[in-house]
Amino acid sequence: MKRSILVTIGSVTVIVPLIVLALSINENKAEQQVINGVPNIKPMESISAEWGKHYPRQYDSYLQTKKSDEIDDILKGNPALVVMWSGYGFSKDYNAPRGHAYMLEDNINTLRTGGPVDGDTGPMPTACWTCKSPDVPRLMGELGELDYFTGKWARFGNEIVNPIGCADCHDNETMRLKVTRPHIERGLAAEGSLKIEDATHQDLRTLVCAQCHSEYYFKPTEWTDKDGNKKVAKVVTFPWAKGFAVEDMEAYYDDINFVDWTHKVSKTPMLKAQHPGYEIYKTGAHGLNDVSCADCHMPYKREGGVKYSSHNVGNPLDDIANTCLNCHNEDEETLRNTVARKLARKNELSTTAMDVIAKAHLEAGKALELGATAAEMKPIQLDIRHAQWRWDYSIASHGSFFHAPEETLRILATAINKGQDARVKLRTVLARYNAAEFVAPDFSTKQKAQQLTGLPFQKLVDEKTVFLNTLREEWIKEATEKGLYDPETMKGVEFKTSYQ
Ligand code: HEC
Ligand code: HEC
Ligand code: HEC
Ligand code: HEC
Repeated sequence: MKRSILVTIGSVTVIVPLIVLALSINENKAEQQVINGVPNIKPMESISAEWGKHYPRQYDSYLQTKKSDEIDDILKGNPALVVMWSGYGFSKDYNAPRGHAYMLEDNINTLRTGGPVDGDTGPMPTACWTCKSPDVPRLMGELGELDYFTGKWARFGNEIVNPIGCADCHDNETMRLKVTRPHIERGLAAEGSLKIEDATHQDLRTLVCAQCHSEYYFKPTEWTDKDGNKKVAKVVTFPWAKGFAVEDMEAYYDDINFVDWTHKVSKTPMLKAQHPGYEIYKTGAHGLNDVSCADCHMPYKREGGVKYSSHNVGNPLDDIANTCLNCHNEDEETLRNTVARKLARKNELSTTAMDVIAKAHLEAGKALELGATAAEMKPIQLDIRHAQWRWDYSIASHGSFFHAPEETLRILATAINKGQDARVKLRTVLARYNAAEFVAPDFSTKQKAQQLTGLPFQKLVDEKTVFLNTLREEWIKEATEKGLYDPETMKGVEFKTSYQ
């Protein structure tokens, strides 16, 4: 009897704390389950707040990207660009990138997307939405890819209303990382060194970003709709079939005679590099050592014992302790100075390249004005095409100076060289037409450069303003009625541009 009471008391003293422990573990497990579990989120749910109900930390940190809200007018700081992009959208308006939450707003507000008055007008094709919103893979699923890529940008103004979201990078059932843009799968397959089906988890921590942070062009593609009508889609395509290097893509575009636009002053058949961030990163020390984009741009955080990835994608130097210092042991100041030095070196060569190339365009314009022949101009225009493509490729991803400093400086050196080749040839041609002493006119401010190249700036602003006050408002109303628009995600996103 005595023994059994003792056993009972003994058991109780052992069991009760065990139960308490088990309960607390269960509580942690419940929390963990929310993180690891499989909640019921509908396929291609483009409203991030819906995912945020299950993953509040990731969602809240994603909303923090709104803090990176400064508008930095790159044309103002580099008026040579207005000359270099004359006749093309980027000469109208071009700002440095800011937080992910702004991508859709900035795409809608930029003068480049113009002032459409209905779903069929406006300068840009639907392809321009492709790296701006999870509504894109949703629409591709609903309509089919070729239909999605057909028509004008304004066609989908009332459908594409959420900036980058969870559905862009995650599977709704497993939360696993996945790519949602078919063009990256095709691009990788054409290049050949890494097929998407062989991608590891670490590869995907980079490839989800490469869906958008890569070089692309719009490939005209014929198709027939279900009523038998012939249509042409403009399909986002990664030009990777010959390789990732700047020379490989240059050869790819030259082989198919691809032209983004004809330069207004020099009449050169131009290429516009987009943002080959992934391709250049692969040539740098980090890319070569398999350090992923997420390792630096999405550091792990701890909150109440829970570890999660910060979705506040931004500048890794804002959180050196959780990024660089995971792998390096220099102090913060040293790392910061190293990055700043790399930026200064890139800026020095980039500024020289821009000056050389802008002058080459203006000198070529003069030669044409004086009657230079197509045969005289052809080799010059080829040099200009390649010089500007290379300059653009090297800097357009914004982070290349750090991701791959040597490759960036190498490409800039070849850009300057090709630009100077054009100018040497131009001197001979100008001399032949009695203009050996010609000096390119002043393009030292954005305004001077826009006047010089005949850009109707105020007209563009006026058209945009009308659009924003009319059609844009209708888009929001219609999308709200369809249940697509989420005011929560857009809260605090103020109207900010360089032109107003
Ligand atoms: C759906 C397309 C898309 C995906 C996917 C994407 N980005 Fe971006 N990213 C953009 C766009 C567009 C901008 C420019 C936004 C703006 O200026 O409004 C941008 C801006 C940025 C910036 C600048 C932020 C700032 O505050 O200045 C960084 C850094 C960045 N992205 C890194 C990444 C990384 C790392 C990944 C992968 C984890 C990634 N991006 C995935 C489209 C994308
Ligand atoms: C080893 C760390 C590291 C890796 C890996 C890395 N980045 Fe960066 N990235 C940086 C740093 C540092 C900067 C410069 C930040 C600054 O000074 O604004 C930067 C800049 C950028 C910028 C320009 C931001 C701006 O506002 O100008 C973009 C976009 C970007 N990175 C995207 C990517 C993508 C996409 C990948 C993967 C393909 C990647 N990064 C891989 C550290 C990294
Ligand atoms: C640009 C791509 C991208 C977008 C957009 C994105 N994520 Fe992630 N997410 C990642 C990456 C990369 C990781 C790290 C995955 C890993 O290594 O396990 C991650 C990890 C996660 C995880 C696993 C736990 C963790 O924190 O590491 C959850 C949950 C998650 N994300 C939720 C979300 C939610 C919710 C949203 C929308 C608000 C979202 N993600 C948007 C790329 C993205
Ligand atoms: C996940 C690990 C990891 C992270 C995070 C990381 N690095 Fe590195 N870093 C490396 C590796 C690996 C190398 C290559 C070392 C070698 O070749 O000896 C490297 C090389 C470098 C180099 C020399 C190569 C060059 O491109 O000049 C610099 C500078 C550097 N890192 C700075 C940084 C900074 C700044 C950050 C934070 C923004 C950072 N790294 C984040 C792993 C990392």
